[in-house]
Amino acid sequence: MEKPWYSYLYIKSPIAKIMWGIASILIAIVVILALGIMEESRMAAQTRNWEGRSIEKGAEIYANNCYTCHGLEGHGSPGVGPALNSRHFFEKRIAEVGFSGTLEDYIKLTIAAGRPSNSHGQWLQVMPTWSSAYGGPLRQDQVQQATDYVMNWRSTAILQTPEEDPFIPFNNIPVSTETVTDTAATTETTTTEVAESRPPQQLFQSLGCVACHNLTEMETASNHGLIGPNMGNLNENAPNRVPGEDAATYVHNSIVTPNAHVVEGYMAGTMPPNFGDLMTPEEIDALVAWLLDPNREQ
Ligand code: HEC
Ligand code: HEC
Repeated sequence: MEKPWYSYLYIKSPIAKIMWGIASILIAIVVILALGIMEESRMAAQTRNWEGRSIEKGAEIYANNCYTCHGLEGHGSPGVGPALNSRHFFEKRIAEVGFSGTLEDYIKLTIAAGRPSNSHGQWLQVMPTWSSAYGGPLRQDQVQQATDYVMNWRSTAILQTPEEDPFIPFNNIPVSTETVTDTAATTETTTTEVAESRPPQQLFQSLGCVACHNLTEMETASNHGLIGPNMGNLNENAPNRVPGEDAATYVHNSIVTPNAHVVEGYMAGTMPPNFGDLMTPEEIDALVAWLLDPNREQ
């Protein structure tokens, strides 16, 4: 019989067949891996693109809402608004104020909730509240975009020399010139050097409690807070939370050791556990009394 023209493709030896089988499996694996790697870089590019868009939108929000106080380039203006496009801001600011989260969270919380405190009259006006969650004009995604825009200054700001750094020192924070190496030690100096007690309203804002707790909404079986319990009726709930703890003891413990008792319906570990280190004992006592006061002033 005549052999067909493709007969050279016939493999007779069983060993050769097995080798071919193994070879094709290996080739398939290599192809799949290569596709996987390409997919990953494609997704990374997509994320960068997405982040880029967010920064762009943030730039627009900044130009419309922020530059009047913080300057077009984020260099701040004395007496009006602090510098944000600043090496000091990116490298030392959160350690100076004793904020335990990330700088991004610090920026986001500040933009969202604003800052009613106005560091001892240093600035003409206060930092307004921006998030619609607190009665401001921006949606949460826009707050994120503004945050991304500010964070985007970091890469160039950290190259500033001390002379180029436009940082405007805050009146209530002693200026430190050495590099921050030991965060714990710096936090300690900051707390001890703040002479006067900060009022509870201010602590509630500046420590970020406001991001998770609503002060006016009621906390009931059918009305829960989004992240942490509402505090409109804390004075009624607190005495019944932990048997044997009166309201003040309970609220005190909730702030200092939040995971000792976890309110039903909420997640343990959500509330930062280190607030006890960020306030003096007097400040904590005043905060507890204020939270339990049904007629508290906001
Ligand atoms: C009316 C003036 C004003 C406007 C408008 C304003 N800010 Fe502020 N901002 C301030 C002041 C004043 C502070 C400092 C508050 C304090 O701690 O005393 C501040 C603080 C901040 C901080 C924290 C700085 C730090 O070192 O603690 C950030 C971040 C910030 N503003 C971002 C923004 C963004 C983003 C916008 C626009 C969406 C904006 N601000 C609009 C006045 C303003
Ligand atoms: C990141 C979110 C978050 C922040 C910030 C936060 N909390 Fe909480 N908090 C929670 C959650 C979640 C619970 C409920 C779970 C638990 O008991 O730990 C809670 C519980 C509480 C309770 C008990 C409330 C009740 O109804 O029994 C008090 C009081 C309290 N927090 C006070 C504070 C104070 C004061 C601050 C600021 C110094 C603060 N929290 C900051 C999330 C937060």
